[in-house]
Amino acid sequence: MYQEELKLEIRELLRSRNGVLLAHNYMRDEVQEIADITGDSLALSQEAAKTTAQVIVFCGVHFMAESAAILAPDKTVLLPRLDAGCPMADMITAEGLRSLKARLPGVPVVTYVNSTAAVKAESDICCTSANALKVVDSLPESEIIFAPDRNLGRYVARFSDKKFHFWDGFCPTHERLKPDAVRRLKDEHPDALFLCHPECSPEVVDLADHVCSTTGMYDWCRDSDARRIIIGTEAGILYRLRRENPDKEFILASPALFCPNMKLTSLEDIAASLRSLTPVVTVAEEIRLPARRALERMLAVPRD
Ligand code: 13P
Ligand code: SF4
Repeated sequence: MYQEELKLEIRELLRSRNGVLLAHNYMRDEVQEIADITGDSLALSQEAAKTTAQVIVFCGVHFMAESAAILAPDKTVLLPRLDAGCPMADMITAEGLRSLKARLPGVPVVTYVNSTAAVKAESDICCTSANALKVVDSLPESEIIFAPDRNLGRYVARFSDKKFHFWDGFCPTHERLKPDAVRRLKDEHPDALFLCHPECSPEVVDLADHVCSTTGMYDWCRDSDARRIIIGTEAGILYRLRRENPDKEFILASPALFCPNMKLTSLEDIAASLRSLTPVVTVAEEIRLPARRALERMLAVPRD
């Protein structure tokens, strides 16, 4: 009952503050339930760039709220849990990227949005898991630096003629999924298809029937004839998959597919954040402007 009261209070606070609640597809079920928009990193950045709301409550991790602050500097961007970080984003620094660029002069940098604003500011263009190949293909150069996710980079490189220089970052959550766990489940359920996120290791990707972003998974599962689908991404995706496809069975490929940072934000945190209008995420102008260029260049890449 207390949870239901909190949900009502959050909706009322959103109304009175002219706020919009954006939630990533990995958030807790109850947070997804009350969100105005749930989506992958690309959809949430697009929404932040175009919303008319004055307050953006970002239920995700720090780099996502930073992207919203970069794209919508006139809005108040709240991240209810300031400690919700992304270990992959912390695997690269602006200084580290600058020294790689110095070793590869003239080679453009494609940076996954799972990175800090300071790293984006050092990049030519950003990408998400939904548009990475299109972003890479949009560049005229035949060689690129791809940072920080080595797994997404290697996946995109399979379909590209360009020469890739990879940064050695990865998502610890997706790396915990091992090919043996997938093989065991495939043996147990020979009729099941296997769907995974490109943050998984190349050995896991090799076993997949389809590889896509989290929002891509909703579309693919809805359209697929498969009755049983093994899911290789963070557990939060199951909430909507099960609700939207009650006639299909979804099997999480491993109980290790759990991102502790994505699970930090509770309804209590969201209500407290909206009551106090804190914590606010901002980005200093000297970082924001070059980071915005890289993000806007990505958003200008045609989708199809
Ligand atoms: P997408 O939702 O953009 O596929 O990203 C997954 C992810 O790991 C976000 O942190
Ligand atoms: Fe970062 Fe991986 Fe968690 Fe996404 S799932 S926030 S990439 S650690």
